[in-house]
Amino acid sequence: MKPRVFVTRALPEEAMNILQEHLQCRIWEEADIPVPRDVLLKEAKAADGLYTLLTEKVDEELLSLSPRLKVIANMAVGYDNIDIAAARKRGIVVTNTPGVLNETTADLTFALMMATARRLVEAAEFVKQGNWKTWSPMQLTGPDIYGATLGVIGMGRIGEAVVRRAKGFDMNIMYYNRNRKPEAEQELGIVYASMDELLQQSDFVVVLTPLTPETRHLIGARELSMMKPSAVLINTSRGPVVDEQALYDALRQKTIWAAGLDVFEQEPIGPDHPLLQLENLVALPHIGSASIATRRKMAVMAAENLVSALTGKEPPNRVV
Ligand code: DGY
Repeated sequence: MKPRVFVTRALPEEAMNILQEHLQCRIWEEADIPVPRDVLLKEAKAADGLYTLLTEKVDEELLSLSPRLKVIANMAVGYDNIDIAAARKRGIVVTNTPGVLNETTADLTFALMMATARRLVEAAEFVKQGNWKTWSPMQLTGPDIYGATLGVIGMGRIGEAVVRRAKGFDMNIMYYNRNRKPEAEQELGIVYASMDELLQQSDFVVVLTPLTPETRHLIGARELSMMKPSAVLINTSRGPVVDEQALYDALRQKTIWAAGLDVFEQEPIGPDHPLLQLENLVALPHIGSASIATRRKMAVMAAENLVSALTGKEPPNRVV
């Protein structure tokens, strides 16, 4: 009999085909509504494998109620939705989808940086609302990206892809990372800085670090207070890396110039959230990897990981 899996969202056809060829699939069919927790727990209890998205919390409770579970294939490079220590303790394999989304996420990071600095969302709304009466010298102006100083916090593969784009804009680039990366320094001409130096000197601070207990609220009131009043903060990693209350205060008091966020402490962020009332905040709904091709590749990759692990092979992208 084929191993039984629960797939927590409708997937692109090519991914579904891979799964259905080898596995007995139960699927949460709703495209835009996450599987309710009680359904997830019930399905996981009877499953050999789970195909999850970052919206599903795979924690101690779920694992302790799922005696058959052998594999969790997450359709994301990040896996902070999964309690890795608890999975490891039970010998459950966890996989992710690294690599395929680097360039796409770097594109979005750069787009968000430009949209925030040059006030694209506000400007488009200005036209649509009929507020464009004339051209005037300082109307909707913002800081230059070309030639500015970029500070990247978290120099992984996405960070490197952002740097390659920034070089086309003649930016001065510094980075902070837990481990220094001499090869990247050499190859990309980037300069290592301490967090404090980076925050003090950058015109654009881009946060790209994974969410771990160490990086939760890495950017808080102290860090924001070190940034230039003209600086822009961009976060395309995970929401909790930035303390949103501290960011709200900094944006409202204009101790930094603007922020662009693709990720939030609570997702989805509600329309009444104070942050969304600010003019100097550009908000996106976690679409860093959302190109058609990349999302298809991620879906297939996670499917292949799940099938491999449940058919006795080493899955290509194993986390634990
Ligand atoms: C990830 O993969 O971790 C992203 O946040 C979604 O693409």
